[in-house]
Order: sequence, then C-alpha cells, then structure tokens
Amino acid sequence: EFHLHPKEVHFASDGAFGKFDKAQLQRGFQVYKEVCSTCHSLKHVAFRDLAALGYSEAEVKAIAKEWGTKQPTFDPKSGERGERDNIPSDYFPTVYYAGQGNPPDLSLITKARHDGGAYVHSLLTGYQEQPAELLKKFPDAKTPDGLYYNPYFANLNLAMPAPLTGDGQVTYSDGTKATVDQMATDVSAFLIWTAEPKLDKRKQTGWAVLGFLLVATVLAYLAKKNVWADKK
Ligand code: HEM
Repeated sequence: EFHLHPKEVHFASDGAFGKFDKAQLQRGFQVYKEVCSTCHSLKHVAFRDLAALGYSEAEVKAIAKEWGTKQPTFDPKSGERGERDNIPSDYFPTVYYAGQGNPPDLSLITKARHDGGAYVHSLLTGYQEQPAELLKKFPDAKTPDGLYYNPYFANLNLAMPAPLTGDGQVTYSDGTKATVDQMATDVSAFLIWTAEPKLDKRKQTGWAVLGFLLVATVLAYLAKKNVWADKK
C-alpha cells in the first residue's frame, strides 16, 4: 500500500504518432553523462549511435575521445593491461562502482520496468521522508543506514542516493531551464531511446503497412465487384 505507481509524464515519443524529440534526447544524454554515468553503464549503446540524436560525426568523435571512462586494453604478448580513449565504434565502457549496491546497466531499464519512462522519472523525483504511518504500522521497516526511501521503488528502500538534487545541476546549452523535473524527464526520454532506438522507424513502418493494406483491400473489393458484375 506504500508502493506507488509511477506518476503520469508526457514523452514526445508517446502514442502511435509520437516521435523522439532530438533536442530533448541530447539534454537527456547530457544528464546521463554528467550525473548518471559515474555509476551506471550503458553497454548496449555505441558512441556512434549518438548520431541519431543529431550530433555530427566530429561531435561524436569528440564525445567518445573525451569520455571519462576509458576502454581497457590487453596486450597478449606482454600480458600488459592498459587503457585507450574511446572511438565512435566502441560501446560505452563498463563503469566500476565502489559504493554500496549494484547500479544496473541502464540501456534497457525502461523496458525492464513496467511503464519504464514514467518509472525512471518518478524514481528520480520521488525521494522523500518515510511516512509516519508506515513506521507506525511497521516499526521494523525503518530505512536502514546507507539506503534511501523511495515509494516508487518496489522495495521502498534503495541503494541509490537521490542523483538529481537541485535545479541547475547541469547547464543545458539549448537554454532549457534545468529544473529537477526537467532533468528527470529528459534523462528518462533518453533512456526510452537507448532501449528502443528504432522506435520512430517502427511506427512509420506500421503506418505504411496499414496504408498498403487499406489500398489492397479497396482494390480487392473493386476487383471482386468487377469479376462478378454480370452474375446477378
Ligand atoms: C539503481 C537510474 C544515478 C547508483 C538505479 C535504477 C535506475 C537508476 C532506473 C534501477 C532501479 C530499479 O531497479 O528499479 C539512475 C539515473 C541516474 C542515476 C537515471 C542519473 C540521473 C546514479 C548515481 C549513483 C547511482 C550517480 C551512484 C552514486 C545506483 C545504485 C542502484 C541504482 C547503487 C541500485 C539500487 C538498488 O537496487 O538498491 N538507478 N541512476 N545511480 N543506482 Fe542509479
């Protein structure tokens, strides 16, 4: 009874006519880069995939090169391990997290959770004090040290400290005001994209198929009428 369903949020990609808003995806990527990527990997996304968000080839190259976590290297001859800069064809490198808990890879998280985009948004904006009634009813349910109360998380207590803590935590280059809610919505939109980058294409194809079927149906009907015209 204390676990809440995600709040309603509107995403540009919602619905049969919905399409990704590239400016929003770029803002969401910025939030991922500056806030989430310290703890969470994105192993199913390659740097070059970012071209779909509207970045030029040179921008993708620069994003990859400047990415904080490097690619591990191994020289089988000498047995030496090292690192190199990322290049566009690399997937986002694995992040090793030393803190408490195990941050899941975020590539598919919006598919893995029910109502994924709204869930991520609610989770990020849902941190709060434990309600007094909960503690009255279940005194043992007090949030343990090192965990944080969040009614949108299935277990109610999770190991992730609130990552979005104040307005202006990132500075958007498109001038959008970076409120906590805005950053949460943008990064959720970005994670909808990472989980289904071909979503726009899928919907377009769906409409084209429906259009074809409609035309084919009309033609079949006219042909049938024509064939049977003199057999009344
Ligand atoms: C878990 C998103 C930043 C540490 C999660 C989950 C999501 C998420 C969706 C999974 C919850 C579930 O299992 O249903 C994000 C986003 C971030 C962000 C979008 C940036 C805005 C961070 C940061 C840290 C962190 C900066 C480390 C300081 C964790 C940990 C968990 C987790 C440890 C596992 C929690 C548990 O299972 O108890 N995060 N996160 N996250 N995150 Fe983050």
